[in-house]
Amino acid sequence: MSNVVVAPSILAADFLHLDEEVLRMKNAGLNYLHFDVMDGKFVNNKTFDMTLLKSLKNKFDFVYDVHLMVVNPEEVYKEYIAAGANILTFHYEAMNSDEEVFDLIKNIKKLGCKAGISIKPSTNVNKIEKFLKDLDLVLVMSVEPGFGGQSFIESSLDKILFLKTYKKDNNLSYFICVDGGINAKTAPSVVKAGADILISGTYLFKSTKLKEDIFNLTN
Ligand code: DX5
Ligand code: ZN
Repeated sequence: MSNVVVAPSILAADFLHLDEEVLRMKNAGLNYLHFDVMDGKFVNNKTFDMTLLKSLKNKFDFVYDVHLMVVNPEEVYKEYIAAGANILTFHYEAMNSDEEVFDLIKNIKKLGCKAGISIKPSTNVNKIEKFLKDLDLVLVMSVEPGFGGQSFIESSLDKILFLKTYKKDNNLSYFICVDGGINAKTAPSVVKAGADILISGTYLFKSTKLKEDIFNLTN
């Protein structure tokens, strides 16, 4: 049995039946829920916001893993924590300075939430090295942020390996989270490289044999 966590991304759910879809994930034994916030500026698409997060939180017991794909995350982070985020991840590319990044990490943690940084496929992982000791989580985007159903970008594996080695060498404890194109074919190499949390949308929500497919991600 592996210790890797599987977090379904509700971006791929059927929104006409969202509560049934979420319950299906819960009943299959999943305890994390990945919540993709897009503002139509940082990425072209727009999704949902803290209102939906609050409704889900009131109804379903999950670790709410909120992925902010927005410009100026420092202006909205408080509202997502108030709505129930347990983990709040913002994009390195959305920030204007290192100081701003350090401040936002500190401010998220001050409110009792776990803090994560995400990097796009084109961003070098060295850019976030200086923040790693302060982070609870690093989210490696293995597709371009903006929509689900894309193919896994292989070069993400090097970033995961770097993060795993750095964590060990520096005695740190951040979680390595991988988001985009995760399925039974891509997951084994991602887990082998060092991922702790696999985010998966299309593969899980389209599954008709969920428990078996979840097992296939982590074993
Ligand atoms: C993309 C999102 C992902 C997306 C993953 O911007 O951050 O969470 O839902 O979807 P799949 O698993 O379909 O690639
Ligand atoms: Zn995401």
